[in-house]
Amino acid sequence: MMVIQGRAYYRGALRGLALGIEDGVIRVVKKTLRGDERYDFGDRILLPGGVDVHVHFRDPGLTQKEDFFTGSEAAAVGGITSVLDMPNTQPHATSPDRLKEKRATVTPKANVDFGLFGGVLQREDIARLEPYCHAYKFYWAESFGGLAGSGEDLPGILGTLRDVSRPLTVHAEDPTTFRPRTEETLPDHHEARGAEAGEGNALRKLVSWHPSDRVHVAHLSSRVGLEALRGAGLSVEATPMHLLLDMTADLGSHGKVNPPLRPPADREALWKAFAEGQVDVLATDHAPHTREEKGETFDNAPPGAPNVETVYPLMFGLVQRGDLSLDVLVRALCRRPAALFGLRGKGSLEVGMDADIAVFDPRERSRIRSRDLHSKAGWTPFEGWEAIFPTATFLRGTLVAEARELEEDRQGRWIPLAASTA
Ligand code: DOR
Repeated sequence: MMVIQGRAYYRGALRGLALGIEDGVIRVVKKTLRGDERYDFGDRILLPGGVDVHVHFRDPGLTQKEDFFTGSEAAAVGGITSVLDMPNTQPHATSPDRLKEKRATVTPKANVDFGLFGGVLQREDIARLEPYCHAYKFYWAESFGGLAGSGEDLPGILGTLRDVSRPLTVHAEDPTTFRPRTEETLPDHHEARGAEAGEGNALRKLVSWHPSDRVHVAHLSSRVGLEALRGAGLSVEATPMHLLLDMTADLGSHGKVNPPLRPPADREALWKAFAEGQVDVLATDHAPHTREEKGETFDNAPPGAPNVETVYPLMFGLVQRGDLSLDVLVRALCRRPAALFGLRGKGSLEVGMDADIAVFDPRERSRIRSRDLHSKAGWTPFEGWEAIFPTATFLRGTLVAEARELEEDRQGRWIPLAASTA
């Protein structure tokens, strides 16, 4: 048996424990254990590997921005051990054949465990794609990659969800309310895709259609959005960008994302809700574009920013400063996304779960620097921010990253699908 020892986050508290691992699965948890292979991390902290249910690894078709190897390398180094990849790759992951091909293309490059979103445009897609994807994605508005559906089709799509076992993530911005203009600044971008009209309207409509609780709202950005969702029973995610940055940031086109960064009051409201545990999921919307692409004029620059390597380090750094509770972080980045998206074996350190572990040393405070990161993007919106990067990351018991470098590559696997019902 292999043993990993340290201060483990176990049943809601940090305790000095030994995790006994066989075949990549935690078999026993005790104060001390003997084992043939031992990692003793002393007073360092063992947390569940992060589960990021919103990444764009750009493979196939857009691999100048990222590929599945580099995206999942960045994830592993940052303590994220499971990801769900979005369908706005080229070609779009919108049919059984394309999902099968995408799976075959990315599997040999995966450094963390993964699943795929199927892109949905019509109600028929829901049953058709169920055997091939972990979850569905509906883009209500165009953002990047040309995969927007029509809002008129959404009620019909929602109606078919009760027949299947997978969740639907909705990019909830209502494009009929957009006010296109030539944009030069982050406030321009916010005005063009307004919070009240764009996100507020979309979410009020969505809630009025009484969707099932398997609807998940992607990257919430605003106070009106929060209000629209109150009591509606849908799950919701927030990104590190919308939680920690706003449109006053000095980022220019590097801060251009969809939905846009909002005024400070929105960020504050979102952070408060998140810190109080009212936001189900912390997901990155890791959306890499190269430095050259982001260096275009503001108006022409593509929306999106890389975040998968920095989310856990940034947030764990905030936990250590006393700005966020560890319980909220582990729930939002590990346990809840795994449960909502049916990712069995993921999201907590318990007997029977995969030994996916991020090891943190609270003394290892550093500053985020682009040159140290692994995404092909080559930049970060959090340049210079304080963070605590993991000392080591284990994927099903294998040491896959250590000291901010990949240690063993291509260990990632397709996460088994929850049974199909269609
Ligand atoms: O900013 C964004 N970029 N928002 C999205 O919804 C898509 C993403 C991308 O794929 O670049």
